[in-house]
Amino acid sequence: MLNRQGKVVLITGATGGIGLAVATGLAKQGMTTVIVGRDKARGLAAVEAIRNQSGSGAVELMLADLSSLKDLRRLAAEFTATHTRLDVLINNVGGLYGKRWETVDGIEGTLALNHLGPFLLTQLLLPMLRTSAPSRIVNIASEGHKAAKTVDFDSFSANNWKRGFRIYSQTKLCNVLFTYELARRLNGTGITVNTLHPGIVDTALFRRFISERFGLIGGFIGRATEFIVRNVAYRTRKFDTLEEAAACPVYLASSGEVSAITGKYFNSDKSMIKSSPASYDAELSRHVWEVSTEMVGLLPHEQIMDVSVAGTRAV
Ligand SMILES: NC(=O)c1ccc[n+]([C@@H]2O[C@H](COP(=O)([O-])OP(=O)(O)OC[C@H]3O[C@@H](n4cnc5c(N)ncnc54)[C@H](OP(=O)(O)O)[C@@H]3O)[C@@H](O)[C@H]2O)c1
Repeated sequence: MLNRQGKVVLITGATGGIGLAVATGLAKQGMTTVIVGRDKARGLAAVEAIRNQSGSGAVELMLADLSSLKDLRRLAAEFTATHTRLDVLINNVGGLYGKRWETVDGIEGTLALNHLGPFLLTQLLLPMLRTSAPSRIVNIASEGHKAAKTVDFDSFSANNWKRGFRIYSQTKLCNVLFTYELARRLNGTGITVNTLHPGIVDTALFRRFISERFGLIGGFIGRATEFIVRNVAYRTRKFDTLEEAAACPVYLASSGEVSAITGKYFNSDKSMIKSSPASYDAELSRHVWEVSTEMVGLLPHEQIMDVSVAGTRAV
């Protein structure tokens, strides 16, 4: 394992669920661990839990609504102003919703939180990742991306929105497409970017989806599911624990074995696997990149050099 003392990691959505477990794993390795959440009380509780479990005092909280373009810009500016380096960025935040919602920017919430947020934040932090190189970006996707055959931006509109998973799987496909395209654009910069499926874990993500999707009976289904998960599934190994789900992100963020690997998709057991056929579609990748750039309002000087396009910056 590489020496991670003195290295800095920023993890989004780390006040609970998989992100909290990943943050704890990296704090145990001695990395300065900066977690991002939207709620101060939950954030401070998470910092205390990470400090207690890791024995590290170098754990910090930054607050931001990661679905808000303005907050994402403020977060990047504050992080850059208050830190001298960024060795690892982990885009973990994500949600699966049973009801359609919109962000403060009027964008469908799943798309904004799961894809547009990481897309914007990563590019705003690239200059810092560049000066800290060799550095890494880890994007938490999902095997669920395989359910999406394409990304249809019209399907996120109020008229076309269907069910949570159809929307969710497209945003997870966006995570994989973004990773591959970014790896291509970052070739030779010393910044690697990889993506992964963390496993299937009983977190707030599923509980909220069930209660939103099934309304009043959702509470009962949610409790029944939780009972089954705790008493049956964990024992028959159908579900992963939080620690198991954190293992692959921690590996990609810190292991010397993957220091030169970029643009790849990993399974929760740390093996490199193929993602869906759609995720290797270069035309779809360019389309998603262009639409996303416009939606987040990236300025020309904030965009990454694509060797095939003139007039964009080199990070
Ligand atoms: N759970 C699984 O089985 C599974 C499977 C495959 C992939 N994944 C992926 O793994 C990642 C983490 O999932 P999880 O299951 O750990 O989810 P989770 O338990 O719902 O945790 C999500 C975290 O993100 C935070 N968050 C949510 N919305 C936010 C916002 N607008 N601004 C700032 N923070 C926000 C939550 O904080 P609050 O407490 O404030 O809500 C929480 O800390 C996601 O990308 C998900 O797609 C999960």
